[in-house]
Amino acid sequence: MSNLEGKRVWLTGASLGIGRALAIELAKQGAIVALTARNKERLVEVGKEVESLGGRALIVPGDVRDLDRMKEVAEEIVSVIGGVDILIANAGTHVFSKPEEFDTSEYLELMDINYGGTLRCIEAILPSMLERKSGQIVGVASLAGLRGLPRAAAYCASKAAIINFFQSMRIHLRDHNIGVTVINPGFVRTPLTDKNDFHMPCLIEADKAARIMCSGIAKGRDEISFPIPFSWTIRLLRLLPLPIYNWIMTRVWRRMKDN
Ligand SMILES: NC(=O)c1ccc[n+]([C@@H]2O[C@H](COP(=O)([O-])OP(=O)(O)OC[C@H]3O[C@@H](n4cnc5c(N)ncnc54)[C@H](OP(=O)(O)O)[C@@H]3O)[C@@H](O)[C@H]2O)c1
Repeated sequence: MSNLEGKRVWLTGASLGIGRALAIELAKQGAIVALTARNKERLVEVGKEVESLGGRALIVPGDVRDLDRMKEVAEEIVSVIGGVDILIANAGTHVFSKPEEFDTSEYLELMDINYGGTLRCIEAILPSMLERKSGQIVGVASLAGLRGLPRAAAYCASKAAIINFFQSMRIHLRDHNIGVTVINPGFVRTPLTDKNDFHMPCLIEADKAARIMCSGIAKGRDEISFPIPFSWTIRLLRLLPLPIYNWIMTRVWRRMKDN
């Protein structure tokens, strides 16, 4: 029996890509899922897939930029399925950063979805976890949050914010018996990465990513980074002195521009 059997999971960004694959994998492992994203029709389709596997899905659409709506969603989940054991704050997006077309409002909008959206979901559900003295909060960051990568300044910043926020929260929430897990995927094939016009090293499929994520969540890991070869590459880049990192990445960037 999976450790996720019977767990009540609130999953955001559940209509597409990694979130959809996670909803299906969680259902296969016996979890009850509450699915949030803006597009209700797509959520209903994912809900049907979950039910076809014998699982239970609650459709709770909403925009993670709307704190009042996230609080309503959390209340609805608690009243219908009795509580949330695991929040997976997965909703997120990406914009390419071009210094020649610098746009603060676009970058802040990205921050508001990726980082702000994660915070709002935590604010909505944390009081009930604190009251019960149990729960697990999972944030989906990225390996891109570990180093500044070309064309991804705003995205890397939003994911670095999540990684550091979770690192800090983990220390406080341990006293309340609440686990904090941060997930750093590399490249996963989804509608988000379908837009990429460059070679994506170690690209994996969303269902494989979902299996890795569920395994780490079930074990209550603090951090889940994958795929391993790409994760170690980024870790190695982190250890390099800045001038060497700059030298390597400038060449990577020039090659990207030429292709
Ligand atoms: N794919 C990768 O290679 C990769 C790598 C590292 C990290 N990640 C992270 O993994 C997460 C999922 O990525 P993905 O590749 O599955 O992306 P995706 O295919 O574009 O799916 C994004 C999901 O987030 C939802 N979403 C976007 N904005 C939202 C908002 N304002 N409110 C509520 N839901 C919103 C979307 O649904 P609606 O449009 O219906 O709202 C959709 O369900 C993201 O946080 C992403 O940064 C992805």
